[in-house]
Amino acid sequence: MTNRLKIAPSILAADFADMGACVKLLENAGADWVHLDIMDGHFVPNISFGPQMCAAVRERTQLPLDVHLMVQRPGDWIDPFLDAGADIITLHVEAEVHLQRQLARIRHAGRKAGLVINPGTPVYAVECMLEYCDVVLIMSVNPGFGGQEFLPHTLNKIEKLRALAIKRDLPLEIEVDGGINPKTARQCAKAGATVLVAGSSVFFADDPADMISTLRG
Ligand code: DX5
Ligand code: ZN
Repeated sequence: MTNRLKIAPSILAADFADMGACVKLLENAGADWVHLDIMDGHFVPNISFGPQMCAAVRERTQLPLDVHLMVQRPGDWIDPFLDAGADIITLHVEAEVHLQRQLARIRHAGRKAGLVINPGTPVYAVECMLEYCDVVLIMSVNPGFGGQEFLPHTLNKIEKLRALAIKRDLPLEIEVDGGINPKTARQCAKAGATVLVAGSSVFFADDPADMISTLRG
């Protein structure tokens, strides 16, 4: 785990009719990862895109593809996204009963594995899985849509998780997702986050490159 704060813009906020250009824009703007929000219309009240979009984006960039599965049956989607070129796959603890098995499948394929917790899910829900995770993604908004307000109680969760990782000497990436802007980015980094997902703040910025470096602090 490097110390430099990583910025993972979410293509949920991109122009879907011009995705190739949007991915290139992110690459040129200095993004570290590309965050793909996968939504099935069941786990969250929205539908976004699937493995084909991931495969198409894979063709356009060498940046790590960070796939966030907001789906009811994440185990069904690990292989399709591995085949589509995902580098990191995170699944919601609220959507899966066999967490260790799914995390092991992702790592077995040589990719990075992680768990996601919703705003209402406490940090201890992932405590016994941390050694099987490269990343824990903490939702700072209710999943399903971009452009929402950052939920401030998230900061305590980041601090709690960072303290756990330090105590167990785990090189855990803590990723925060939703409502990230220059102010909340600073707060999250101070609390111990190492990766920030930003959709609207990057794609709706006058200068995405400048926004990315501002978020990175
Ligand atoms: C919400 C997604 C987030 C969202 C972030 O379900 O997981 O990644 O797209 O969008 P902003 O940065 O606009 O809150
Ligand atoms: Zn996301």
